[in-house]
Amino acid sequence: MSPVKQQFLKDGYLVLDRFKTPVECESLMQRGAELAAGFDYSGHPSVFQTSEQTRTSDDYFLNSGGNISFFFEKDAFDAQGNLKNDLFHSLNKIGHAMHDLDPVFNQFSRSPQLQALADALNLDDYLLIQSMLILKHARIGGVVDIHQDSSFLYTEPESCIGFWFALEDATIDNGCLWAMPGGHRTSLRSWFKRKEGGGTESIIFDDRPYTTEGMIPLEVKQGTCIVLHGLLPHYSMPNTSGRSRQAYAIHTISRHSCYPSENWLRRNLDDLRGFAS
Ligand code: FE2
Repeated sequence: MSPVKQQFLKDGYLVLDRFKTPVECESLMQRGAELAAGFDYSGHPSVFQTSEQTRTSDDYFLNSGGNISFFFEKDAFDAQGNLKNDLFHSLNKIGHAMHDLDPVFNQFSRSPQLQALADALNLDDYLLIQSMLILKHARIGGVVDIHQDSSFLYTEPESCIGFWFALEDATIDNGCLWAMPGGHRTSLRSWFKRKEGGGTESIIFDDRPYTTEGMIPLEVKQGTCIVLHGLLPHYSMPNTSGRSRQAYAIHTISRHSCYPSENWLRRNLDDLRGFAS
């Protein structure tokens, strides 16, 4: 077994410094800003809410799996329905198919280097199913509650693995990831899925409340890649600093797992590709 796989199985995550160059990170952020500038929100803006119980269940969210959609911060609008900040600084994230639809995001998401990492982790038949540009603006970016990524990309058997890239330095005060080493050696607590008749719901498998005991901050430099096991509980705090904390995440699942049609994110698995550029 490769040393990186050993480490990954032990901790449930892997921190790889200098995986991407500063130029690659800056280019992706530049492209994200370009995409956001082209977003016409005059129709029906979708607000991204952090608690899964109140997560927006509108069509905009449910259709975003196969396109490039824009999600506002929870408090982006004032009582009159006007944005409190400029459009870019009102957005929480962009998702969820940039890796397939945008050339710059595709190039970042697929490379010989990522393929080699996937090989070292024995992710031979893994498919890229979701991408997110997480903006976490200075003094605006909100909390992301403790969750397991497999709740949102449910497969049988469980197979979700995330690749989280720090596009800027991530520190405690600008909202870095927090996780507990070894915390993935547990079971799945919930499944966020489409509800019969419309909307979404969470099926609870384990209703014990999460605790942050044993969670440690993963403070990392720009360009770091953090590989996250789908069962590893993790979260991030609000950005209370004057520096943004942009990150890009891609999520992958095994081609050999069952991907239920009740999952919130719908993609035709035959259309999905792996890490090869
Ligand atoms: Fe996550």
